Amino acid sequence: MAKVTEIAPDIYRISIYAPRGDVQFNHFLVKDDEPLLFHTGLRGMHAEIREAVSKLINLSDLRHISFSHFESDECGALNEWLGVAPVADVICSQVGARVFVNDFIGREARGLADGESFSTGNLRFRYCQTPHLPHGWDAGVLFEETEKTLLCSDLFHQAGDIEPITSDDVVGRTAETMKAYQTGILAEYVPYTPLTAQNLKKLADLKPKTLAIMHGSSFTGDCARALGDLDAVYREVFGQERPAGVSR
Ligand SMILES: [Fe+2]
Ligand SMILES: [Fe+2]
Repeated sequence: MAKVTEIAPDIYRISIYAPRGDVQFNHFLVKDDEPLLFHTGLRGMHAEIREAVSKLINLSDLRHISFSHFESDECGALNEWLGVAPVADVICSQVGARVFVNDFIGREARGLADGESFSTGNLRFRYCQTPHLPHGWDAGVLFEETEKTLLCSDLFHQAGDIEPITSDDVVGRTAETMKAYQTGILAEYVPYTPLTAQNLKKLADLKPKTLAIMHGSSFTGDCARALGDLDAVYREVFGQERPAGVSR
């Protein structure tokens, strides 16, 4: 059963642990005049997530659906959600709308430019374009400007069935997880590109108070520092040349 936790004012983390993979999938519901769901979740988890969301809002009131990049856990159940909330708009990057999403949903998504913002009522969200961070040409994240919560998708991915929110060493945990993943089929999770450091710096400069993390615990504490430290981890794990003939 999905576990629901309010991790910031009116931002609810809906978490499902998948023992296969030893990973949590977290979806964030913003309860406001115009409710927003960030991460639709996998199609296979839709019934469970929908049930949890229905205890927080009337499903037909869902007004905005958004996610970081086109991938099954980010937006696989998008059409199922549009079935229960037909008036919802789909918010993603302009690249995402044009290259992936419009065709997938059979209508126009709302592609936002970097820095563009929208309101859900009491809360206001800024779209931050972060190409290839965590991965995907179309990637971006949402920053809630009033309470300073960064909906940061796969950044700070941590393995295990762990607590909803922590102020512990989230960067250490993600370093451990990324290093372990480098030895298996999930290797090369984050491409370290010439844009990685500046993308993370752009997010750190927002000085978030809370990080709403897709896999693992959300984080509260010095988020700007955590984002800076995350760059060092990604550079160490993904930014080094691999020996010739070795793919990882
Ligand atoms: Fe992803
Ligand atoms: Fe993910």
